[in-house]
Parts: sequence; structure tokens; C-alpha cells
Amino acid sequence: MKPQEQKKIVRTGYDRLSYDYRSDDTPDDSGDYSSWVGILEGLLQENSPVLDIGCGCGLPATRLLARRFEVTGADFSEVQIGRARELVPSARFLCGDISELAFPEGAFAAVVSFYTIIHMPLEEHPALFRRIGSWLRPSGYFMATVGHDAWTGSDEAYLGVPGGRMCWSHADEKTNVRWIEEAGLHVSWTRFVPEGDSGHTLVLAQKPPAGNDRVRCAGGEN
Ligand SMILES: C[S@@+](CC[C@H](N)C(=O)[O-])C[C@H]1O[C@@H](n2cnc3c(N)ncnc32)[C@H](O)[C@@H]1O
Repeated sequence: MKPQEQKKIVRTGYDRLSYDYRSDDTPDDSGDYSSWVGILEGLLQENSPVLDIGCGCGLPATRLLARRFEVTGADFSEVQIGRARELVPSARFLCGDISELAFPEGAFAAVVSFYTIIHMPLEEHPALFRRIGSWLRPSGYFMATVGHDAWTGSDEAYLGVPGGRMCWSHADEKTNVRWIEEAGLHVSWTRFVPEGDSGHTLVLAQKPPAGNDRVRCAGGEN
């Protein structure tokens, strides 16, 4: 499938499935998000600028982040972004394809992306990691869920919705770690996040401090 075709299926899919994926009353403690945001709260100063790539409707991650940080959420689904603007009024939101949006170099203390890169065309992943590296400040953090096993596929009735077409494409954990390190970031640790009979990899990476091309680990794992 061509990259533009995959993106169109994903974008129109989330326009259609937004409420099936997350309701307006999704609690902040759903899933693992509060523990992941808690890790960043321990690493970043209050009011730090944070970018949430593929923020969806803003629940729960963007809203959790916006309690302590200056958050920019980006998503290319107009329905998702429209809901996010209502549900998380304290954050700034941009509607666009993350492979086309531009941010100044060093604009963010952290970039997060949960369950989004796995939807992007595989050939765009290394370039996205490089762009994220340039948007981070020295010593800034990148936290994301990426593929644990390599897989490319689609579903014609995602979330049980007839006609709810969706696509995914991702590399395995080892390849993701290599691409992130090739983008100039140091991978501090990875964790397996189980889902059904499979799962994802949560990765925390850090940009080297200014004038340095190496960083020490930010956490104890891996
Ligand atoms: C599975 S949802 C995750 C939403 C939220 N991060 C969460 O964890 O609940 C993936 C989101 O990524 C967005 N997305 C996928 N590819 C994108 C791209 N190339 N540019 C911007 N947003 C994208 C989709 O529109 C969708 O809202």
C-alpha cells in the first residue's frame, strides 16, 4: 500500500471511530498513561513544553500532561482534534500530518507519542525519529509506544465497527531502538506493554546534553 493511501485510511478511520476508541468520560487513570506521565513528571520541570504526537481526543494522556506542562497536541484527524480542543482547553492543538508539521529546533523538553507511530507508513519512521530529535532540547526526553514485533496489516472492522477500516505498520523493538539511536537519541530503557496476546514497547530516550554526544541513563532498565 502507498504511504498516502495508508494515511488516508488511518485519518478517515479515526474521524469515524473517535468515540469508539475513547468516550468523553474516559478517566485519567485508564490504561497505563498516568504511570507513564508520572515518569515524565519526575524528570521535567513544571511548565516545560511538551509535544504529544497523535494526541487523539486528548484523553487521557494530553489532559494528564497538561496538569503540569505546557502541552502542544498534534493529530491529523479533524474529529479527534476538535474533541481534544473541547476536552483539554488548557493545551494547544494542531491539526496536521506529523510528517509535515514543522517545529523550531529545540522547542520541546519532551516529545511523547502513544499508539500513533505504529499507524504511520513504516518507511517514514526513521525520518520521524530524526525530526523528533531535532525538536528536542539538549537533554530532552522522548517517550513513545512503538512496535514490539514487526507487523504490517489492516482490519476492516476495527473496534468491531463494520466498515471501520484501519491500518498499522511497525518494526520490532530492536529495529525501533536502532532507529531512535541513529536519530541521535540515547535509549534509556524499554518496557513490554502487554495487549491481548501481543503487546507494544514503551521506550524512554534522551537527547544528549549540549556539547555532548552521549548521555547517562535516565532510569535503571535495559
Ligand atoms: C491509536 S490513536 C492514539 C491516541 C492517543 N495517543 C492515545 O493513546 O489514546 C492514534 C492517533 O494517531 C493519529 N495519527 C496517526 N497517524 C498520524 C499522522 N501521520 N499525523 C498525525 N496524527 C496521526 C490518529 O489520527 C489517532 O488519533
